[in-house]
Amino acid sequence: MASRPRPTVTYDAPPNIALVKYWGVRDEELRLPYNSSFSVTLDRLRSRTAVRFDPELREDEVELNGTAAVGGPRDGVVRFLDRVRELAGTSDHASVRSENNFPTASGLASSASGFAALAGAATRAAGLALSDRDLSRLARRGSGSASRSVFGGFVEWRAGVRPDGFDSYARSVYPARHWPSLVDLVLLVRGAPVKEVRSNDAMQATVRTSPDYRARLAEVPRRLRAIRAAVGARRADRLFSLVMEECDSFRLVCETTVPSLDYLTATSRAILAEVRELNRAAGRTLAGYTHDAGAHVHVFTLARDLAAVRRRLAGIEGVERTLVVRPGPGGRFVRATSGRAS
Ligand code: DP6
Repeated sequence: MASRPRPTVTYDAPPNIALVKYWGVRDEELRLPYNSSFSVTLDRLRSRTAVRFDPELREDEVELNGTAAVGGPRDGVVRFLDRVRELAGTSDHASVRSENNFPTASGLASSASGFAALAGAATRAAGLALSDRDLSRLARRGSGSASRSVFGGFVEWRAGVRPDGFDSYARSVYPARHWPSLVDLVLLVRGAPVKEVRSNDAMQATVRTSPDYRARLAEVPRRLRAIRAAVGARRADRLFSLVMEECDSFRLVCETTVPSLDYLTATSRAILAEVRELNRAAGRTLAGYTHDAGAHVHVFTLARDLAAVRRRLAGIEGVERTLVVRPGPGGRFVRATSGRAS
């Protein structure tokens, strides 16, 4: 049977920054985490992905930020498309074009936004109509943190307990408008090593070798509940303290991994120290830092304190650029057009 002509479907998805980190999977194939995680979806930044299934293609064509993808990044997309083909019952290859409106080399979480956008675009392009919950489950298979980028605002990804992963998906706990005065000052650090696309190998090394990993797993549920409650009550000082505690716990298990995982540069460390000093001098917790598996640092504060915090931190030697982002909406369908992606 000849395949029907298929549309080019474009979908946008934002990155997110984890307040409670996902780090370690109990099932690598299904990408099922040991612990639940909690994040804020970031506004203004996005991956935009266009997908078209085409019976004439002899293999998948994958273009990331204007360049044909090769190696690991390409393989990850092709494996993901295989899953979509299986769900849709098609063997057609696809053309995929994805672009970020933020520098990929900046180390911002492009795998989260990228796989969430790919999930949205590829499923529709294959004729599937998935709920956001199903999109989250599917995006999780591409990159764990992508499960959270499907949704906007303050998002929890429940680890789930089922071996088949059916109960491991994200949901929005509070919408972005719940706390519009919460600001994330992103400090892009010069000379930050480019993050590999997937954190999988690093996190599994932590699970196997860090003597502190078990203790971390035991304390994360309490911290997640406390962070969710602080967001619910819009208690900024409490949230910032907890977010730093969580970041320090994440960094500890990375540092005690064998061989040690050290994602920070001297500049990143100077930012963390300056935030601590800022809070000490103010006599209250007016800002809280966090970072992922990379050197850039996110500093949360309230809009009213932004100018002061920014002045102090932007002057640190090695800070290349700062971005100001806020809680934002989740992934969204942009358009479906007939014919090729342009
Ligand atoms: C430190 O989602 O990039 O950013 O599932 O291997 O693709 P893979 O990992 P990824 O890891 C994110 C790790 C983190 C914490 C977080 O975002 O929760």
